[in-house]
Amino acid sequence: MAPVDPHSFTESTQPATTHIALTLYFDFPSSTIHASALFTLQTPHSGPFFLDTRSLTIHSALHADQAIPFSLSATSDPIKGTLLTLTLSNHSSFILTFSTSPSSSALQWLLPPQTCNKTHPYVYTQCQAIHARSIFPSHDTPARRIRYSAILNIPSELSAVMAANHVTRRPPRDDDAPALASLNLNWCSQDRVVEEFVMEQPVPPYLFAFAVGQLGNREVGPRTRVYAEEGSAVLDSAAKEFEGTEEMIREGEKLFGEYDWERFDLLVLPPSFPYGGMENPKMVFLTPTVIKGDGSGAQVVAHELAHSWTGNLITNKTNEHFWLNEGFTTYAERRIVEAVQGEKRATLNVGIGWRGLNEEVERFKDNLEFTKLKNNQQGIDPDDVYSQVPYEKGFQFLFRIERQVGRSAFDEFLKKYIAKFKFQSIDTDTFLDFLKENIPGIEKQIDLVLWTEGTGIPSDAYEPELIVYKTIVSLANEAATGRMPGEDEVADWQGQEWELYLDNLPKSIEASQIVALDSRHKLSESKDYEVKVSFLQRAILCGCKEYYGEVEKTLKAVGRMKYLRPLYTALVKGSEEDKVFAKRVFSEARECYHPIAQSVVVSIFSKHM
Ligand code: BES
Ligand code: ZN
Repeated sequence: MAPVDPHSFTESTQPATTHIALTLYFDFPSSTIHASALFTLQTPHSGPFFLDTRSLTIHSALHADQAIPFSLSATSDPIKGTLLTLTLSNHSSFILTFSTSPSSSALQWLLPPQTCNKTHPYVYTQCQAIHARSIFPSHDTPARRIRYSAILNIPSELSAVMAANHVTRRPPRDDDAPALASLNLNWCSQDRVVEEFVMEQPVPPYLFAFAVGQLGNREVGPRTRVYAEEGSAVLDSAAKEFEGTEEMIREGEKLFGEYDWERFDLLVLPPSFPYGGMENPKMVFLTPTVIKGDGSGAQVVAHELAHSWTGNLITNKTNEHFWLNEGFTTYAERRIVEAVQGEKRATLNVGIGWRGLNEEVERFKDNLEFTKLKNNQQGIDPDDVYSQVPYEKGFQFLFRIERQVGRSAFDEFLKKYIAKFKFQSIDTDTFLDFLKENIPGIEKQIDLVLWTEGTGIPSDAYEPELIVYKTIVSLANEAATGRMPGEDEVADWQGQEWELYLDNLPKSIEASQIVALDSRHKLSESKDYEVKVSFLQRAILCGCKEYYGEVEKTLKAVGRMKYLRPLYTALVKGSEEDKVFAKRVFSEARECYHPIAQSVVVSIFSKHM
């Protein structure tokens, strides 16, 4: 018996699932999905067969109408969830029927008032890192890849999108879901419709994704449509913000090889979406906060697009090798940004990332394990240790190799790496072996073990040298002597420049300077949440109470964890009054956050209170 992943019950000795045919009935009034799933196994199996579940009720397990014995573990693991054991007798397929629960961690159910158009409900998924198991039983580890088909039965005034090919929208049929018959659903009722999808490429379960709501779309390129709630202003502004997407796809193809996923659609979610973006294949999910009207949202799209190669084609085998997904993608994102927006924009990103990396290493000073690229996550919830380290240290490592071998040799290496491992899930050693094989002697030039297994930031990491970067950092440092930037100095600053400036302000800065900065440059009211949150975090740390109204508004308006984390953390580390304030705001805002964001805030509270 050998588990393949510390975050899954999946056993290496049991066969993989090659295909799952899902039938999903969405019951909005009870925030529940009633479902069946036909599993196809790679080889027939006899004896115990393990699947991951969380918050699921299992109704039956069948093969050709014969019941298969099954049981759910009596207790749940706080991280892995509940083990489902089937006892198979030379079976190579079986059907499970099951229901999700309103607390399923992957799903956020929004009532009409929580949506933009206020008239229809909405539900969407976020499966990374280990939440797919709260929608359907699965080998929920990136070490295993599956193909799937899905039939979604939804209210007919709504529509569904998936990270898969759309096959058809049609009236429900009696014979769609025989396995669900015993649940007495109104499958064929007049006011229901069926949407069918297929995913023909094998993907890790964390890339399973759908959204159901009143959706509209706009065409923005030959393989790209933007989707958002119908009738909301978001649709038009998103279409404008993302008009350069096709150009980025072409740059990506030049750098990393053909785009293998046919379509590259974008779904802009309600403001509670817990991430900036999620690389769901064929249909990237995005927070509406990336739409700023200045095209800068394209950087997040560049990142999620880059995952089409690094992450979705080549996947980390477990979350202990997460840097293979995010470090490569951060590197790839910056190459795309450099190609379409120029070196200055890409360098500012490197600079913001550099500051972020240094802060994260400081944050983990009592838990250095998570400053390593390859780390041990036994007994660790990946959502709790999410940080910039895999992104920025991973980027730094790859950039170090690029600097050593030169850009064109590294580009050639990257193309070869992607071609070699596509549609596979790999670990850090597999990457290092391939690197050493293809760039002989590299281990003598770069300390590969230090980079991948060492803690902190190696001394041969790179802080940007470009003058735009240095000017902003030294301006920020000068705040220690009371000097604030003048109008002329910031005249052409965009969000990124402000973010870099704010992130580099010395800790010693005084409350009066924060207030002066804001009255001159109106940062607390910025439409750009990166700037606004960076400013508000400073304001909390300096005890500037006049901004708490804005802090509360922000915490209630968006559910992106990149903003919730620093604001709640700054508050709970503050005075007794700050803690009470944080608790009150959370109790009022909580309902509007995705379950993943709710538990991250709970864990911030439990660490500091
Ligand atoms: N795959 C991540 C989001 C993620 C990571 C979800 C881990 C769940 C667990 C996505 O590609 C990402 O990195 N998003 C960033 C975008 C940014 C780096 C441009 C985000 O959400 O901030
Ligand atoms: Zn990413």
